[in-house]
Amino acid sequence: MTQRIVVTGGAGYIGSHVCVELLASGRDVLIVDDFSNSHQQAVARIEELAQRGVECLKADLADAAQKNAIVNRIKTFGADGAVHLAGLKAVGESVAQPARYYQTNIGAALTLIEALGAANARSVVFSSSATVYGDLNDNPVTEEGRTGATNPYGRTKLFIEEILKDVARANDQWGVANLRYFNPVGAHASGRIGEDPNDTPNNLFPYIAQVAVGRRKKLSVFGNDYDTRDGTGVRDYIHVVDLARGHVAALDYLSDGERGAVDVNLGTGRGYSVLEAVAAFKRASNRDIPYDVVPRRDGDIAEIYANASKAKKLFGWSAKKDLDAMCADHWRWQRENPNGYNE
Ligand code: UD1
Repeated sequence: MTQRIVVTGGAGYIGSHVCVELLASGRDVLIVDDFSNSHQQAVARIEELAQRGVECLKADLADAAQKNAIVNRIKTFGADGAVHLAGLKAVGESVAQPARYYQTNIGAALTLIEALGAANARSVVFSSSATVYGDLNDNPVTEEGRTGATNPYGRTKLFIEEILKDVARANDQWGVANLRYFNPVGAHASGRIGEDPNDTPNNLFPYIAQVAVGRRKKLSVFGNDYDTRDGTGVRDYIHVVDLARGHVAALDYLSDGERGAVDVNLGTGRGYSVLEAVAAFKRASNRDIPYDVVPRRDGDIAEIYANASKAKKLFGWSAKKDLDAMCADHWRWQRENPNGYNE
């Protein structure tokens, strides 16, 4: 029987790619998204790429007044499980507005858990983050590494992981996969969906892409005095389509009847420095990427990359696309949609 999956935050950057891969795997999808940091256009493009329709509920999972309507819709949809991506995600903003971050991110997760319970659906794939490892571990980081986030955003990820584990402990019908993403970049190879930040991008790739396309003058490189091969920060960039396929693999694993909760890294296992990423983007785009080195950004760490063997072992999944593909696909999206979804 066709599996029916709720995707919260399904119109967002990662969510839109997850929807396309879920639809390609034969599943039906209900997007629940408040469109506060995503676009209605993305839903149309998901359908265009998948050549199939999706259901879509515009609603805020963290709004108590909307809870009953959301629970009822997920029940009526007949959900078998969910991929939970909805949430606020700006680190700096979370430091300034911690209560809002806890209320929104944790409130949304609790409403989803209630709705899945009501629908008799017991499988959840959660969008967690390598940020839960803080700066506490040697590289490559394994899932058994110490956790300890350094800001409220990161703590919401950690707390939701723990809440889901408690739910799975309390009732052995539940299956939970906490996916700890490293640094998702790139876009669908069609150039039709990709990342479209609301304001000035906080993250490296969208910033580089906007410099390449001429929307911004210069990249600021946050520090070149780290203890890394060229002094700039090293991260495990992962193509968003590989990442999305990791969600499908996690759902396949849960659909095979695996219960309980697992934490799983989604990364490539390879680290690249900021300057290596800039050089690769320059090659892919054939554009100049001027930059200045500026002081370190508060809260940044020198280097983090994944040990990705658990995902391979449990899900049979591994990342396939290299840095050149990430840059080429990110660039195609940016070039063909210089102003994102606002044509
Ligand atoms: C950031 C968040 C992390 C979140 C992740 C996904 C911080 C401190 N961390 O990870 O919690 O889970 O995004 O949204 O914000 N860089 C520059 N110039 C820029 C932007 C970034 O040099 O304009 C450098 C950074 O110092 C870092 C690397 O590029 O070395 C990657 O940065 P970024 O893309 O923001 O990701 P993270 O900081 O790893």
